[in-house]
Amino acid sequence: MISDDLIMEIKSKINIEDMISKYTILKRDGKNNKCICLFHSEKTPSMVIYSDTQSFYCFGCAVGGDVFSFIMKVENLGYIESIKYLCEIGGISFDISDKDNQEIETKNIIRKINIDTAKFFYQNLKSEYGKKARNYLFNRGFSINIIKKYGIGYALDSWSSLLDYLKLKKYKIFDMYQAGVVSKSQKGSYYDQFRDRIIFPIIDIRGNIIAFGGRVLDDTKPKYLNSSDTIIFKKSKNLFSMNFAKKHIDKTVVLVEGYVDAISLYQHGFKNVVATLGTSLTSEQSRLISRYSKKVIIGYDSDKAGQIAGIKASNLLSEVGLDVNMINLKDCKDPDEYIKKYGPDRFSVIINDSQNITDFEISKLKKSIDMDTNQGVSNYIKQVIVLLSKIKNEIERDVYVLRISRDTNISKDIITSQVNKVIKSNIFKKKKHQYRKLTNLSRFNTDNFIRGNEHFLREIKAEQGIIAFILKNSNNLNDVLSNITIDDFILAIDKKIFSSICDLSAKGGNMDFSLLSKNFSEKEKEYFSSILVKFDIISNKKEEIYDYIDILVRYKQRMTKEDIINMDPDKLRDFYINLKEKSI
Ligand code: UTP
Ligand code: MN
Repeated sequence: MISDDLIMEIKSKINIEDMISKYTILKRDGKNNKCICLFHSEKTPSMVIYSDTQSFYCFGCAVGGDVFSFIMKVENLGYIESIKYLCEIGGISFDISDKDNQEIETKNIIRKINIDTAKFFYQNLKSEYGKKARNYLFNRGFSINIIKKYGIGYALDSWSSLLDYLKLKKYKIFDMYQAGVVSKSQKGSYYDQFRDRIIFPIIDIRGNIIAFGGRVLDDTKPKYLNSSDTIIFKKSKNLFSMNFAKKHIDKTVVLVEGYVDAISLYQHGFKNVVATLGTSLTSEQSRLISRYSKKVIIGYDSDKAGQIAGIKASNLLSEVGLDVNMINLKDCKDPDEYIKKYGPDRFSVIINDSQNITDFEISKLKKSIDMDTNQGVSNYIKQVIVLLSKIKNEIERDVYVLRISRDTNISKDIITSQVNKVIKSNIFKKKKHQYRKLTNLSRFNTDNFIRGNEHFLREIKAEQGIIAFILKNSNNLNDVLSNITIDDFILAIDKKIFSSICDLSAKGGNMDFSLLSKNFSEKEKEYFSSILVKFDIISNKKEEIYDYIDILVRYKQRMTKEDIINMDPDKLRDFYINLKEKSI
């Protein structure tokens, strides 16, 4: 078990502001700090970091907690792992062995299985059985160096070669299954997940092999088979080749669709390249890119699907504040084909010629519309107005308006007024949408805990206020504790927090958020931090706390209708007289 002392030692050495500022820029906001939330896409900061309670909370997505929750979420770690991680940063010795912790131990085993699996596939490629695969790779122009660099391998045409090999290495079948390299049939027997495929190991930014992608050597379907998500692999949070690219990103990163595109560009000297993992780009991936780069050059396939995906990706990337350009691959279907056909120098040219999303879409539009007819021009202008309305910068927008006006002989004023109309209606729609999304999100937490007790919002506010007060004024604790008991609380979660407070106070511990919530789930921690936030602005005067206590105690003493109906007549009479006296 993790001791309270260890938690306090970590917190004394590492403050939450320093930790969060490693990932994003903090801005001072009164006595607190705020920043762009790392857990949902936004451009204005709604994540607040509270110095006194060492907690954080995002008003946009209701994610919150302490420094441990932060690290768990941002680094994708478990609770114990987050403690271990922070110990390393703080130079604190962490003497719990991985073996004692199931979560860390399982992840370690899966990582080892993945390393051995990758080695096995690599050996296969070099072996006599790998000739076909070697030829395939050489025919496609992969150099020996690049094969080594990416650890490309070959899965034999067999149902159990990997499984048998890993068995020899003393791994348990269930662990292989958890790693995703072995699958389970409906009858319950296990078999190799990848068979007769070229294998591309997927490596995270820390250099761990977390998954595999496997390509067939012919035209069989599916062309690619990718590992499913496992406890160490989340498709939506990783990018292929990011482990290499992060060392070469110089303000820009090239984003492509395929493993082969990424490897091929790398081999030809474009090392700042990453690829998605068989799904469309996610907002998490966009945020990952924005940690390393300011600008993204999208080099998606030139077919219709690729172009549509490119525009979607571009929207997501600009939402996190990245500049985005689109490459025009001319007559080639993907970057791999382009670089092989025309070479790296010409690829540099199309990178330099890559256009921002507005230019890119305007050129595309022009090609698809007949500008010699009135109908064509009017169609064109309608669609251009929508495109221009997406430009955030007013001056930039004006430059385009002028250009379009010259192009079409339509007055600048008319175009401007039409663009402004669309902008206005977009802002309205967006606000409405955001409001819905945010209220849904941020109420999700508290609503779940409050469900069934909606009639007692006044009492709930009181008990939350008491909890917040205790955390911020632990010197007055005994006063408060002598006036209320756990039975006075209404919500189960508030009872849980209060019971934690009583336990800790009995041990003589500090009223520290992390200690109190040590055994809470992440959702419970989020609720807890939301309380602190709610009462951050409320004064901490003693009188106020007594008002809260009063509300709770009075609620307890309140008679229900049933109580009154069932009361015997004498008592009812006393009750009536008592009430009457009080009201005079
Ligand atoms: P592509 O079909 O463009 O493949 O799919 P590619 O990377 O260019 O590969 P080659 O050149 O044909 O060998 C792009 C990406 O989409 C995912 C893979 O991640 C692939 O790299 N994909 C594609 C799948 O996950 N499954 C499939 O069946 C096909
Ligand atoms: Mn392709």
